[in-house]
Formats: sequence, structure tokens, C-alpha cells
Amino acid sequence: MDERSEAPARRRIALVVNGNPVEAEIEPRELLLDFLRHRLGLMGAKRSCDVQVCGSCTVLLDGEPVSACCTLAYEARDRQVLTIEGLADAGRLHVLQEAFIEHAAVQCGFCTSGMILTSLELLREVPAPVPEQVRSHLKGNLCRCTGYRRIIDAVVDAGRRLAAEGASS
Ligand code: FES
Ligand code: FES
Repeated sequence: MDERSEAPARRRIALVVNGNPVEAEIEPRELLLDFLRHRLGLMGAKRSCDVQVCGSCTVLLDGEPVSACCTLAYEARDRQVLTIEGLADAGRLHVLQEAFIEHAAVQCGFCTSGMILTSLELLREVPAPVPEQVRSHLKGNLCRCTGYRRIIDAVVDAGRRLAAEGASS
């Protein structure tokens, strides 16, 4: 028998997705994006370029943005994954989600989950960023629709609101 025709050994992994423990048997080559979309039904992360250029597939892995199109599901074992579906808290949208809606920073929506999750990481590092910081941080996330200004306005506004909440609490 030709060894090259043998199916690769499957691997059992455990991880936490949006706060929920998940266990699965996967092929070593299975991509995190396919795992999230096709196995877990989490369709928020989108496939566009498929080569780590556009950012539409971005999820947070232990709090860091990664391109799920170029990350193996196996690399997520024993780690925490956050997708856009896990951002709202008990049905209440995150302030970033609210700001994107209020600033009309969404058109087709294909880039939006990646934009928001990458921005979430920025706001954790820089609580109230100025537009240039937002622009720089989002340089790996491409949008074909909005021209970026509304997205940047939304992130700056969300940062201001979060900073104000922090100051008043
Ligand atoms: S689809 Fe992953 S970076 Fe474009
Ligand atoms: S809203 Fe369409 S790609 Fe950004």
C-alpha cells in the first residue's frame, strides 16, 4: 500500500471557545477557521483572501489576534479562543459593537468581526486611542466598503466610552 495515501492520524484536542469547553477529534491539517465555522457553526469569522492578508478571519487566541485561515485548529489546543459570537455579554452588545452600529461602520459586514476583535485587543492595550493609533493597529484588516473613516471613528468613540466608564466606576 502506498504510504502517501494513508489518512493522517487524527488528534483529540480540548480548548475553550467563547467561554465554553470544546473537545473534538481533528485532522492535524484542519484549519482553525474551518473548525470554528463548519464544526461549531460560528460563522462570524470570514474567509476572504485565505493567505493572511485581509484580516476578515481574525479571532483572538489567548487574547491575541490571529488569522484563523492560516492557524491550525491543533495550535488552539488547551487555549482560549474568542470569536465575535462571544463578545456580547448576556445579550448586551459590547461597546465596540454598539459604536460600529451607531457610526454606520458596517456595510457588507465581511470585515467587521475581524475589525472589532482586532480593535478589542487595541483597547485593552491603549484604553482611549487617538485615530492614528487605531489606523496603525488596524493596518492588517482590509475593508472594501467603508473607506475606513467610520471604522476609525467607531473605535475612537468606543475607547472614549470605555475610558469614561472606567473613570466613573
Ligand atoms: S481570510 Fe484570513 S487573512 Fe484573509
Ligand atoms: S464593510 Fe464590507 S468589507 Fe468592510
